[in-house]
Amino acid sequence: MKSLVISAHPEPKSFNARLSSTAQRLLRERGHEVRGTDLYALDFDPRERGSHYHYRRDPDRFFVQDEQRFNHDGGSLPADVARQLDDLLWADLLVLQFPLWWFGVPAILKGWMDRVFVYGGMYSSRRRFDNGVCRGKRVLLSVTAGSSAEDCSPTGREGDTRLILWPILYSLHYVGFDVLEPVILYGIHGAHGGEDPRERDAHLAVQLSRFEQAMTTIDRLPTVPFNRDEDWDERGQLKPEAPSYSPFIRHAPPF
Ligand SMILES: Cc1cc2nc3c(=O)[nH]c(=O)nc-3n(C[C@H](O)[C@H](O)[C@H](O)COP(=O)(O)O)c2cc1C
Repeated sequence: MKSLVISAHPEPKSFNARLSSTAQRLLRERGHEVRGTDLYALDFDPRERGSHYHYRRDPDRFFVQDEQRFNHDGGSLPADVARQLDDLLWADLLVLQFPLWWFGVPAILKGWMDRVFVYGGMYSSRRRFDNGVCRGKRVLLSVTAGSSAEDCSPTGREGDTRLILWPILYSLHYVGFDVLEPVILYGIHGAHGGEDPRERDAHLAVQLSRFEQAMTTIDRLPTVPFNRDEDWDERGQLKPEAPSYSPFIRHAPPF
């Protein structure tokens, strides 16, 4: 099994960095061949833009998907993207490690997706969802949130964090991954939390062991259910008899 752990956190001494190194160690102990990518250490540029491309199909106007496909097909993708894409296609299992920032993924990770999920290489109108390029590969999101589990629950003040992750989960499904149920660790904050350092360390130790438990049982983690290709009619609408797995795609809008 080949595993790739991608980490999106600026601080090498952070809890996220610890989770990332723990994931790599535990996967190696399970016999996986592991590659680790620290997007900040690489100074990965998350901004997709024309100047990344030496060769342009249209030098006058930057059409992102056109240039991605043109450069993918011509073997002239930007070197940093080509390396990331190689790693991605090499791996059977992808772990994305990141803190929840403003109810979403940090910009560096969002930009990694914008640039590395290359049109023509990672997806096209014919190669997506059940027929996606990453079919047969698994992905796990490992997320830390500063807020408590209660605040991040469906009735909590921060909103339903599991639901907030839907756009990234769906993007990964779009390119064909089997998406594992995310591991979300709550109440993770630095010194600003104002707690007693011993209480904070005890809380982090409990969360770390939750994470270790998830990593050591990764082959038994449930997958997130999504509609299959046959659940859509010719207008791209969910068929009446098809199941609905999320408020994002539903039969009758509740509000
Ligand atoms: C820019 C920024 C935005 C944040 N937004 C959220 C948020 O939307 N929800 C939340 O629960 N925590 C939020 N936090 C707290 C982080 O999730 C928390 O600091 C992080 O998970 C702790 O992990 P670390 O110790 O490895 O940095 C935010 C922190 C920063 C710096």
